[in-house]
Amino acid sequence: MNAPLKNSNFLKENNARHLFHPMAHPADSLANPPKIITSGEGVKIKDVDGRETIDAVGGLWNVNLGYSCEPVKEAISRQLDALPYYSIFRGTSNDAVIHLSYELAEFFREDGLVRAFYTSGGSDSVETALRLARQYHKIRGEHGRTKFLSLKKGYHGTHIGGASVNGNANFRAAYEPLLPGCYHLPAPYTYRNPFNETDPEKLAAHCVAALADEIAFQDPSTIAAFIMEPVLGAGGVIPPHKSFLPAVKALCEQHGILLITDEVITAYGRTGAWSGARLWGVQPDIMCTAKAITNGYFPFGVVMLSQQIADTFEQDKTGAAAIGHGYTYSGHPVGAAAALACLAETKRLDVITNAAARGTQLYNGAKALMEKYELIGDVRGGHGLMTALELVSDRTTKAPVDKALPMQLQQAIYDNGVMVRVSGPNLILSPPLIISEEEASQVLSAIDAGFAALQ
Ligand SMILES: Cc1ncc(COP(=O)(O)O)c(C=O)c1O
Repeated sequence: MNAPLKNSNFLKENNARHLFHPMAHPADSLANPPKIITSGEGVKIKDVDGRETIDAVGGLWNVNLGYSCEPVKEAISRQLDALPYYSIFRGTSNDAVIHLSYELAEFFREDGLVRAFYTSGGSDSVETALRLARQYHKIRGEHGRTKFLSLKKGYHGTHIGGASVNGNANFRAAYEPLLPGCYHLPAPYTYRNPFNETDPEKLAAHCVAALADEIAFQDPSTIAAFIMEPVLGAGGVIPPHKSFLPAVKALCEQHGILLITDEVITAYGRTGAWSGARLWGVQPDIMCTAKAITNGYFPFGVVMLSQQIADTFEQDKTGAAAIGHGYTYSGHPVGAAAALACLAETKRLDVITNAAARGTQLYNGAKALMEKYELIGDVRGGHGLMTALELVSDRTTKAPVDKALPMQLQQAIYDNGVMVRVSGPNLILSPPLIISEEEASQVLSAIDAGFAALQ
């Protein structure tokens, strides 16, 4: 890897000076300038000082195939030469997006998903899913079905609709008032929950009962959809018990409520299954995807729709199914070409096998670290390459750690050769799905050394 040190003084001088960073306080970005990453290869990234680290964040849960995926790079480059842009708004299409739609219908056949609606990323996918869910009910004459249910701790991006179903105050309070008619239920989060229940199966049953209660309270005929991540990601990696999603699906079906799985992280193999829905043996009505669909190399997303939804839209004769939604970059040919190459590589490498094996390795390794360091209150994961270590200052009271500590820990781990993500009190590990056994051990050793440095 080349170390592009040439402009390093300029970059450091201007770091965070002329931009606001997402998910950061601008003053904090000025006081603690962000790490400047300048190149990447395999599962490793290099910063402006030439320091190489394993990227245990996988970009932002999206660089599943690592930083050197040549087929995706070549596909992008070829498509830029052939057709760098053409819209798919009414009346036109492009060759790449038609090809991709065919491939996606194949890929998601087992999930019962047959039509694609293209977006520019995860938040767009969530917004699209919420809007099409409402429209679906309107086409069927159920105009009253406008509400959305979701889980506390869930993360659904940052558009107003997504923030409204989001289950974390950090992404909501500053932007209120949000969309009316959105209601949140307790997450199947064994470490902290209002039922004081640590058994995953019993907790799942409590959460399902709370959902049934809320549906009855709201009146089912007012509810458009329930949205959830099959494994909650940004909220701190919360895998529900295996009974949870099937029970949610049964309730939704019973009451005519659409089930939206937000698989912006979990689709395309991260959980060790091809989708989170498939991991739990459930077919959603709508699935939101983005991120790994292009390995993070191009901003792109797709919402997949069930046959029932496709039929409802396609068989409408009233005009109610005309879609008044879409983005300039919906179906971008360069994104579609990237996605085609990415899907082919994802399947060729059978990434789910490695994701499952390395996920177990990281999860077990993190649990072993919990034996060693009191600061680790909980370790969650066990379903592919999504693992979180929740930090506490006192294991008995589960009191949070000092706010500065997670960032100190992140730096100490970085100094030992690994980039991890800090999200609130959680250290999150979501490396590329191609990470080797040896690299996964290096991740664990660096975390161990990071904790040791704090003692
Ligand atoms: C489950 C989920 N939904 C939606 C989003 C939003 O995606 P984006 O940041 O691409 O808008 C994310 C991003 O992390 C996500 O994890």
